[in-house]
Amino acid sequence: MRIIAVTAGKGGVGKTTLTANLGVALCQLGFRVCVIDANFTAPDLAIHFGFSPETTIWEVLKGKEGLDNALYEHACGVHIIPGSQDMEVATNRETYKRLKRKMRKLKYDFVILDTPPGLGEDARAALIPAKEVLVVATPEWTSLANAYRAMLFAQQMNKQVLGMVLNRASAHELEPNPMMVEHVIGTQVLATIPEDIHVRKSVSLQNPVCLAYPNSESARQFRKVAHYLGGLPWHEKLPWWQRLFTFVGKV
Ligand SMILES: Nc1ncnc2c1ncn2[C@@H]1O[C@H](COP(=O)(O)OP(=O)(O)O)[C@@H](O)[C@H]1O
Ligand SMILES: [Mg+2]
Repeated sequence: MRIIAVTAGKGGVGKTTLTANLGVALCQLGFRVCVIDANFTAPDLAIHFGFSPETTIWEVLKGKEGLDNALYEHACGVHIIPGSQDMEVATNRETYKRLKRKMRKLKYDFVILDTPPGLGEDARAALIPAKEVLVVATPEWTSLANAYRAMLFAQQMNKQVLGMVLNRASAHELEPNPMMVEHVIGTQVLATIPEDIHVRKSVSLQNPVCLAYPNSESARQFRKVAHYLGGLPWHEKLPWWQRLFTFVGKV
């Protein structure tokens, strides 16, 4: 079972969006997948999937419920363990160690953990249950600097950093491109997800973009990351109308 934490060193860059869509995309490739909201302070993974859970990971960690009771299956097949809206949720290294122990019961090909924002104690502790880490950043130097520090923390904790996902890219001339990012940060850029209204619409629809708008470029890029994680060759072509636009753009 591969346990992958999604981290960023910054809030609002797309960790939860990536977690939700990777869950869906890996599931669509035939893998058994569970996504866990390990962002205990501001959990919103369940919202991306459109449900308000009664039992959450917090009841499990408090020993009030078994892990099975906090597992929800989405129509697409992905399993979700949601976070709690309870204001009293305490997060520290012990909490994440307990989560790691509870996760031993799980039997999936992939478990993807959404993690808290920032570079504080809880954001670092959230990496404890994972063996591998994906870093998300927007193509701005502030976000990249935080992502770089998050990557260093992960490496110090002996986690394998799989690479970076650039999110909300607009191809603006001032924006660092993936090659620059790879050179400066020192890890591979697995995909560049554009700033895409379909992502915002899908969050409002509470249905990940890979399901709500499977033909959008962002959905395609999420699938690209899923192929990489699954060790599968990536040869999905752009739809004909997008290839036409690209061709016309070059003429
Ligand atoms: N590629 C994108 N294009 C447009 N909007 C996006 C994109 N990725 C994320 N967003 C928007 O940004 C918001 C914050 O993303 P989220 O995944 O919750 O960030 P984080 O979990 O890192 O705090 C989302 O609710 C969504 O509306
Ligand atoms: Mg989030």
